[in-house]
Amino acid sequence: TQPLRIAIAGLGTVGVGVVRMVTAHGDRMAARAGRAIEITAVSARSRTKDRGVDLSPYGWEDDPVALARRDDVDLIVEVMGGEDGPAKVLTETALGSGKHVVTANKAMMARHGQALAELAEANGAVLRYEAAVAGGIPIMKALTEGLAGNGIERVMGVMNGTCNYILTQMEQTGADYADVLMKAQQLGYAEADPAFDVGGIDAAHKLALLAATSFGTRVDFDGVQIEGIEQVSLADIEQAREMGYRVKLLGIARMGEDGLEQRMQPVLVPASSSVGRLDGVTNMVIVEGDFVGRTVFTGPGAGEGPTASAILGDVIDIARGLTVPAFGQPAGTLIAANRAATAGP
Ligand code: NDP
Ligand code: HSE
Repeated sequence: TQPLRIAIAGLGTVGVGVVRMVTAHGDRMAARAGRAIEITAVSARSRTKDRGVDLSPYGWEDDPVALARRDDVDLIVEVMGGEDGPAKVLTETALGSGKHVVTANKAMMARHGQALAELAEANGAVLRYEAAVAGGIPIMKALTEGLAGNGIERVMGVMNGTCNYILTQMEQTGADYADVLMKAQQLGYAEADPAFDVGGIDAAHKLALLAATSFGTRVDFDGVQIEGIEQVSLADIEQAREMGYRVKLLGIARMGEDGLEQRMQPVLVPASSSVGRLDGVTNMVIVEGDFVGRTVFTGPGAGEGPTASAILGDVIDIARGLTVPAFGQPAGTLIAANRAATAGP
């Protein structure tokens, strides 16, 4: 069997994690996929930066889009980020020529996911983005495969590791908001622009993707009512704790009789509840299905290892020949949902 030849666009926190994981577990992944998975080429802005991994075995492209034009590449791992720009051009170029794409880019998927999924389907390519939603938790696989027979009633949870890290560190150490945010950036949790994290936008991207996949609706990021954690003070957190509560950035998407409701906002939850017990970078996604009931998924929501794990889960699926559509059903069959009166800007 031919190896699956992958190229990695972006060698930051996630891209380096993918290189490390393929290096550490190449044999195991080949055994599970039934064929070898080989990195053939990489791209980033700086060719000379020391990234702590040996890149000498791989081809190099200054222009990431050139990766999609190489004959020795079957699949692009897009981990540069950015809603538009080179990430989108690369993804379109790859899918348009029948090459598969695995991306961690929720901003791009929340804005352009439908069009990209249609492009993939039209060209016999596979588009997957497990790493874009809740880091290491395999929630997209659960929704598009294990839970696919259910009518989903509600999907909710904590979906931004940076915010949960900031809120719990402030509570546990009394540390200053700005200092903890800087620590989250150093740990590789935060977005290139951390305003996306603390403003609730990153979590809203994820909620919009979860909602589309859960309800079979078109991605409606503009319909998410968003409030971030910028206004949450140490005094708020301490007052909540004294009353037995914790502050969490919680997202809820629900399909009601009056339409789709999507909200992302800081809420008080009982400290003893499953959501209230989440510490640090941990995420939790709760899915309520009509036949299965309530299912709860928890795990690390950001960082090098967890995100690489999600990327390579998708890569192995593609190596095995799995062709599950990006939103769990052909993109053209997703329907536009009415926004519930309480939701949307
Ligand atoms: P980083 O900022 O650490 O890395 C981005 C990489 O992309 C860098 O290597 C950078 O090159 C390269 N890059 C950026 N723009 C260009 C460009 N125009 N041309 C070529 N290369 C470019 O980001 P992360 O690794 O943290 O995140 C990457 C993606 O993964 C984002 O979409 C993010 O939202 C997503 N994600 C991140 C998670 C995390 O925990 N960090 C978790 C889940 C998803 P250079 O190094 O030379 O500057
Ligand atoms: N910045 C994101 C977070 C990365 O903190 O959750 C994972 O999507």
